[in-house]
Amino acid sequence: MSAALKNDRFLRALRREPVDRTPVWLMRQAGRYLPEYRATRKQAGSFLAMAKNPDLACEVTLQPLARFDLDAAILFSDILTIPDAMGLELYFVEGEGPKFRHPVRDAASIEKLGVPDMETELRYVMDAVRVIRRELDGRVPLIGFSGSPWTLACYMVEGGGSKDFARIKAMALNDPKALHALLSVNTDAVIAYLAAQRAAGAQALQVFDTWGGVLSPAMYREFSLPYLTRIARELQRGDGAERTPLILFGKGNAAYLDDLSRSGAEGVGVDWLIELGDAARRTEGRVALQGNLEPTTLYGAPDAIRAQVRHALDSYREGNGGSRDGHVFNLGHGMSPDMNPDHVRVLVDEVHAYSAR
Ligand code: CP3
Repeated sequence: MSAALKNDRFLRALRREPVDRTPVWLMRQAGRYLPEYRATRKQAGSFLAMAKNPDLACEVTLQPLARFDLDAAILFSDILTIPDAMGLELYFVEGEGPKFRHPVRDAASIEKLGVPDMETELRYVMDAVRVIRRELDGRVPLIGFSGSPWTLACYMVEGGGSKDFARIKAMALNDPKALHALLSVNTDAVIAYLAAQRAAGAQALQVFDTWGGVLSPAMYREFSLPYLTRIARELQRGDGAERTPLILFGKGNAAYLDDLSRSGAEGVGVDWLIELGDAARRTEGRVALQGNLEPTTLYGAPDAIRAQVRHALDSYREGNGGSRDGHVFNLGHGMSPDMNPDHVRVLVDEVHAYSAR
């Protein structure tokens, strides 16, 4: 299974070791903007059928790598597999996004939740990791991932996406004990899930705290940060001498970079509301930084995209004492279905060309 890695730029950057050029991958690099993805999805019947079939999950994971010179692959799956396996029953309504048939809204339903068994209830995810590692054959490293305890809780309590997060924020105010019980079981599940993906072959791990930024600072420090820190600490305890790097990505996390860079994670993913140079100054080389082009940059013309790429690369280097080490290029959040694949190539190639100079 473990063919030697032919391209380890991404892992070297996460260890803040020198690289020949800045590595790049894109959140949601496998998705509806690719016609070949839409064809596989049609064949599978639905997104969930595709994600639950390890061979099809492998196929769509590899699709963007066949087109673009990306430095990492990310497991094709979803963050909502954990609550689905906990019994909440995930389903998708066309145009409305993910939903749960059985949201959790009170202490009694939270008490019934348990950590799913990774090699039975979530076996399809671990099988996908194993198939993808085999098919990648060492071309680039494979990233495994999970949602953060808070972000998972948002979907579990709201029952789907939300504009104002009214239900979970009310729970934070009116029944913080119940919310902490939910975050605690989610944290146990996330740690077991990431450790299982690592055991199955994932070579780096990312936690998506997509909704951490909707919390006030005091609430973030109570309901998201401590759980992220526990994940970073406990995952490392179970790891060997060659640590599997962990990236904590969060939208709206600029105010917490000092804490996140001391959490024990190797990398921190940031959105576009902070200049990379400022993020580098605040984290003082304690972690690698991943990011942070505004995703809508991909709607720009090729020359505009190149200029934005160069700005992000220059900003990181300026804030990192003149060195490009420790930077993984990415968007500040995921790609959208109406983006132009040709523009992705422009972005990826410019990251490599400009950073090699
Ligand atoms: O990055 C990748 O290429 C890996 C695959 C991946 C998916 N979801 C595939 C997916 C990853 C890493 C995720 C994570 C995820 N899922 C997050 C955190 C990251 C983020 O973007 O904030 C969240 C919040 C979810 C929950 C979720 N699942 C949403 C909001 C949606 C979109 C619904 C829609 O209709 O747009 C999904 C479904 C989903 N997950 C799709 C993909 C490619 C689209 C499904 C389709 O083909 O219709």
